[in-house]
Amino acid sequence: MKAVVWHGIGDIRLDEVDDPAIQDGHDAIVRITRSAICGTDLHFVRGTMAGMKEGTILGHEAVGVVTEVGDHVRGFQPGDRVVINSTMSCGACSYCRDGHTAQCDVANPNGPQAGTCFFGGPETTGPVDGLQAEYARIPWAQNTMSKLPAGVSDEQAILLSDIFPTAWFGAQLAGVSRGDIVVVLGAGIVGQFAVASAFLQGAGRVIVVDGLADRLAAARTLGAEIVNFTEEDPVQTVLALTNEIGADCVIDAVGVDAERPKSGPAAVSSDEAAAFDAEVAEIAPDADPQGDLWQPGDGPSQASRWSVEMVRKYGRIGIIGVYSPAAETYPIGQAMNKNLTVRMGNCDHHSVTPPLIELVASGAFDPTALITEHEPLVDAIDAYEAFDRREPGWIKVALTTDAT
Ligand SMILES: NC(=O)c1ccc[n+]([C@@H]2O[C@H](COP(=O)([O-])OP(=O)(O)OC[C@H]3O[C@@H](n4cnc5c(N)ncnc54)[C@H](O)[C@@H]3O)[C@@H](O)[C@H]2O)c1
Ligand SMILES: [Zn+2]
Ligand SMILES: [Zn+2]
Repeated sequence: MKAVVWHGIGDIRLDEVDDPAIQDGHDAIVRITRSAICGTDLHFVRGTMAGMKEGTILGHEAVGVVTEVGDHVRGFQPGDRVVINSTMSCGACSYCRDGHTAQCDVANPNGPQAGTCFFGGPETTGPVDGLQAEYARIPWAQNTMSKLPAGVSDEQAILLSDIFPTAWFGAQLAGVSRGDIVVVLGAGIVGQFAVASAFLQGAGRVIVVDGLADRLAAARTLGAEIVNFTEEDPVQTVLALTNEIGADCVIDAVGVDAERPKSGPAAVSSDEAAAFDAEVAEIAPDADPQGDLWQPGDGPSQASRWSVEMVRKYGRIGIIGVYSPAAETYPIGQAMNKNLTVRMGNCDHHSVTPPLIELVASGAFDPTALITEHEPLVDAIDAYEAFDRREPGWIKVALTTDAT
């Protein structure tokens, strides 16, 4: 079958690989009908999330049809249409029973202290071959898949695999409640869904910060107020928009590939630039940019710094942007002295997603307008490159297989 395979930093290829097979009674095999490229995948190719193993199939977002189930998978049968959670979970350990499925004790083959197990990630997360392929093996299938109602299309469901649940979870981490003024940092697809989630959870106002005009314009169509950090100082602007009080909550939907402003009043000083350069050297020592491709973000702690500066005293921060274990810079003193609450992590997909499937099935919320590109799997490498360059309009790429 065809699959997108990680060969090295800056080196991904569409390869012909063996079809997956059941290896354990908890596995299922799924024929993928839609997958997608996520901002998380870019960290692996840019070298800002280390530890990938050569030969790993990339991708952790997919929808498909079950073709085979292992003996212990009792709730699914061949022919079922499913959305696959990005994170795997056993469904029986104490973490899973509490709904904290991203920290399942059992799914990660590296042991209970290894943290989240997800598809197509570094060795510490499994590694488990990912979903940008024609078929995939789904470990712990009973808890890692959800059935799709007939009324929910593949196109709607692909954003339920990771993006919508992560954004919803981010709004929960930030404790969004009725009337809150919420800032969303980052207007990528996760940021767009964080805007929608914050409003659905009761936010009174949502302000979105990014440096890309096309993504900000998309966020404005969702009802957000927009701030371009290449033209304005986002901290000063948020203060000005909130009677100098600051936001109640900030959702960081940027992560380790954050950019520092290169123009406008927030453009960094040479001292700040040197400090950011030192962070990049620590986080991405093996980065291998090719011209404008696969450039690691040049301000790894920029979103963290702005979050702490623009939230009010006693404010709340939810971090869903991914930071690698090598990212060690956080303005902890400033956060402590403002009595902030900072919560973070990988989405607990299995417990967050089911109500969102119902929400989409009910017609109350249609996520499809935010998928800006539909590309065949065979063109995945070109699509990765356009997405990495943030070409105008390329907010989210869904990949279709030949079979669909
Ligand atoms: N926690 C989870 O479970 C989870 C799940 C999915 C994605 N993620 C993470 O969420 C983040 C966003 O994902 P995405 O697919 O939207 O990625 P993306 O790369 O498409 O979007 C990131 C956006 O952040 C903007 N940005 C860069 N620097 C900024 C700054 N200093 N301030 C504000 N905006 C800035 C970029 O211009 C871009 O629009 C990534 O880090 C991804 O790994 C986390
Ligand atoms: Zn994702
Ligand atoms: Zn578990």
